[in-house]
Amino acid sequence: MSILLTGGNGYIGSHVAVALGLAGRKIVILDNGSNSSINTISKIETINRAHVPYVFGDIRDMKLITKTLREHDVTAVIHLAGLKSVAESIEKPLDYYTNNVEGTISLLKAMNSQGIRNLVFSSSATVYGTPRQLPLDETHPTSATNPYGRTKIQSEEILADLARAQPEWRIACLRYFNPVGAHQSGTIGESPKGIPNNLMPIITQVALGQKSQLDIFGTDYPTPDGTGIRDYIHVMDLAEGHAAALQFLESHAGWHAFNLGTGKGHTVLELLESFEKASGISIPRKISPRRPGDVAKCYANVDKANRTLGWAANRSLHEMCSSTWNFCLNFPRTTTCTSPH
Ligand code: NAD
Ligand code: UFG
Repeated sequence: MSILLTGGNGYIGSHVAVALGLAGRKIVILDNGSNSSINTISKIETINRAHVPYVFGDIRDMKLITKTLREHDVTAVIHLAGLKSVAESIEKPLDYYTNNVEGTISLLKAMNSQGIRNLVFSSSATVYGTPRQLPLDETHPTSATNPYGRTKIQSEEILADLARAQPEWRIACLRYFNPVGAHQSGTIGESPKGIPNNLMPIITQVALGQKSQLDIFGTDYPTPDGTGIRDYIHVMDLAEGHAAALQFLESHAGWHAFNLGTGKGHTVLELLESFEKASGISIPRKISPRRPGDVAKCYANVDKANRTLGWAANRSLHEMCSSTWNFCLNFPRTTTCTSPH
């Protein structure tokens, strides 16, 4: 009996693989390598001290998915595979709808054909659009301002329709807030292949001297220091949330959404200060205009996940920053603080 991780080679997937290993679960990873390295598998195996079967392939390849589900005796799927850049999704919407929505549908069809109906889906806080009230709880209306966000809302809605049509489905949509940090071993971490857009990978680029300064997008937000507030969550806390969700689905049918965050917001300057303390490096910065599409504040109400999943994020902002830096020091060679691809 195995758990299939689509996109299990990626940033979050590799940490989920480690968390499941620790929870004593057998896993199989399927990934097309579009944003990850094959080397990650051996790092997961070293941490887990176990062989991890790897299938190189695409979630849109229904035949391959069906074969994988059958041959590895899969009982549940954690579906992380997807494209995730907001900016790229605006330029290439069809790639995003094909990969994220069509890909999800073909995975679901393959699962249905094999009678496998347990699914944990990687969703995002982006489904809440511009917050109407904070903290965001799971009943907040969904909306999206870009194609990436729409692919997450559409996938969630497809999953909800499926659970209504076939009550035997057990589905947890995990709405991630802002994952940062790395496993304590310093061997797996965030390794984007292109130019990063998110705050933490850009801070590390500057720290490594690969970029001259950090642009702070807006200092006139209605926040204590004027910079944007986000709910940063340690990727290992996030990963452990997946193990908790799988366990929850063992006794709960239907469609469920859970926020995975800490419930606490931090400004850009707070994260920066924490990173500087953890790394001992001062980060040159420049005040820049607001980034179009950014919201002032975004943080979660995590009561539902705490209560229902018996899960909570415990790691501190300092641990998020120090583990990120530890990983980057181990893999400083390439232009984007990456492990070698
Ligand atoms: P990632 O790019 O590091 O990992 C995604 C993995 O999926 C990569 O290894 C990539 O090679 C693989 N992949 C992409 N398309 C595929 C396909 N068609 N078939 C097979 N494999 C494919 O990204 P991540 O940060 O680990 O994100 C994982 C999931 O979590 C994504 O669905 C993303 O949208 C979601 N999410 C991420 C964040 C974040 O800030 N990192 C926030 C909210 C939600
Ligand atoms: N920021 C800067 N400078 C930068 C990059 C970011 O000041 O160079 C600021 C942003 O303005 C924002 C904060 O840092 O205030 C966080 O920005 P990120 O880009 O790291 O994260 P976002 O919250 O904007 O978006 C991310 C993902 C989305 C996802 C969302 C919620 O990119 O896809 O988290 O999970 F939907």
